[in-house]
Amino acid sequence: MFSNRIVDTLALGLVLCQTILAASSADWRSRTIYQVLTDRFARSDGSTTASCQTADRAYCGGTWRGIQNHLDYIQGMGFDAVWISPITAQLQGQTPDGSSYHGYWQQDIYALNSAFGTADDLKSLSAALHARGMYLMVDVVVNHNAYWGSPSSIDYSKFTPFNDEKYYHPYCAINYSDENNAVNMEQCWEGDTTVPLPDLRTEDTYVANTWNSWISNLVKDYGIDGLRMDSAIEVDPQFWAGWQNAAGVYVVGETYEADANYVCGFQKVIDGVLNYPTYFPLVQAFQSTSGSISNLANMINNVKSDCQDTSLIGTFSENHDQPRFASLTGDMSLARNVVAFTVLADGIPIIYEGQEQHYNALGGSSDPYNREAVWYSNYNTQAPLYELIATLNKARKHAISDDGGYLAYMNYPIYTDTTTIAMRKGKMVTVLSNKGANGAAYSQTIASGYAGNTGLTELLTCSTLTADGSGKITVPMANGQPRIYYPTASLSGSGLCGGGSSGSTSSGSTSSGSTSSGSTSSGTTSSSGSSTTTSSSSSTTSSSSSNNGRGQGSRAAGRPFKA
Ligand SMILES: *[C@@H]1O[C@H](CO)[C@@H](O)[C@H](O)[C@H]1NC(C)=O
Repeated sequence: MFSNRIVDTLALGLVLCQTILAASSADWRSRTIYQVLTDRFARSDGSTTASCQTADRAYCGGTWRGIQNHLDYIQGMGFDAVWISPITAQLQGQTPDGSSYHGYWQQDIYALNSAFGTADDLKSLSAALHARGMYLMVDVVVNHNAYWGSPSSIDYSKFTPFNDEKYYHPYCAINYSDENNAVNMEQCWEGDTTVPLPDLRTEDTYVANTWNSWISNLVKDYGIDGLRMDSAIEVDPQFWAGWQNAAGVYVVGETYEADANYVCGFQKVIDGVLNYPTYFPLVQAFQSTSGSISNLANMINNVKSDCQDTSLIGTFSENHDQPRFASLTGDMSLARNVVAFTVLADGIPIIYEGQEQHYNALGGSSDPYNREAVWYSNYNTQAPLYELIATLNKARKHAISDDGGYLAYMNYPIYTDTTTIAMRKGKMVTVLSNKGANGAAYSQTIASGYAGNTGLTELLTCSTLTADGSGKITVPMANGQPRIYYPTASLSGSGLCGGGSSGSTSSGSTSSGSTSSGSTSSGTTSSSGSSTTTSSSSSTTSSSSSNNGRGQGSRAAGRPFKA
């Protein structure tokens, strides 16, 4: 169960040896993740002058040292976990498809990507994170390697250790419109004919055993606390069960698909899934003032019923493969609502680097334009979304420590109309709007589920209101701003709205401090019931029918799940 590991603390010029526990999935529930694209976050020397043009798809110089040097920036938003790009040695050179700066084009799993630094640099980053009580999550690709040259011309001896054609499926181009076909999805190749991604036979015993012992060692060697698995639905689910066991830490899979039932099925073999099912209706609900609130509400209910543990899913609204939200709409109120949902809904929140700066993927919206260097922001800690995220993470942390049940209470809609959704999770009520910054003021009365006459504080404005005798609240909405309510009497120690210092997180040297994920409760108020379904909108009709881009097929029941 417990795996000991040695952490080299180089930051102070001395070496501390400490034994710490590998982070389990339970340790991750209370966490909040900042996603770093290593090449684009920070350079070792802090320089910002040399050009980094996203359209070039070239290396821009970001490193693990650079990340370590800017942990204050990340921790200042309240994050206590950092997801970094894949670390393995990559295809070299500038191909017509660009370079391997993203890290998803590996060729040698026993060597590190020297563009990102040395083994000591990576261990130093890991130790620096642990010294702050933060976790390291590493992105890992097991589905494929990468080669520059046509699929028929591949020199397999270039790969380590899978250096023979026999370890790979025969070439066929994956067809993302044929998602119900397991052979297509699990055996055909990603990439294209310029840089094909030879698809490993992960069902082969040698391949699986090699991967499994590799990850066991990697986790120990670098003090890794969690893994993000690339291309999770392109790998045989049987493989994942062995992998999860060998890794011994929290694993979240890139389940790039809209269907909740299908995506949630992966929790049978790995701890967590990326909440793509919610991502699509979330963005669609808020990317314009006419987005569908009901599709979002329906999906919240679908995920809630389909996922076996919603506290372990990764909830996000941007990543390196999806459009910058600000490229869809420049409206800051809409962006604030999306960020509020991301942090306060079920699951482990994930914010993608640059989202806090309202980056808008100049020149495009998605890959490669959504991979802007963060240093161009000068790491501005006064950016509106930076400050909002800090407040939201603080609110979530407070709810977790105030209410032992918070993480287990599932977020559910308690009110919807065409522009408003109110949700309740434990003692917190979040009211979102897609009316946008020009939205007129209105009051919305909502059956909140709070006990009658509960005094509430709105955490973004610190204004207060009191529930009526039957627990209804009348929420003053304006300019499309989100509202977040918490019982005023339960704010003590939160550092929010005069609720006392939150006894700031940082600095402790106690490694992977496992914040309690439940049970220590103090909960005495009667108001935290998650089962008070005072809702109007609890209809659970499925609607995963959005249609732009891969992963959004109309999978009916999904590929039969074999695990
Ligand atoms: C991809 O799959 C879809 C759905 O089965 C099919 O209609 C289409 O012809 C396929 N495309 C190719 C290039 O094979």
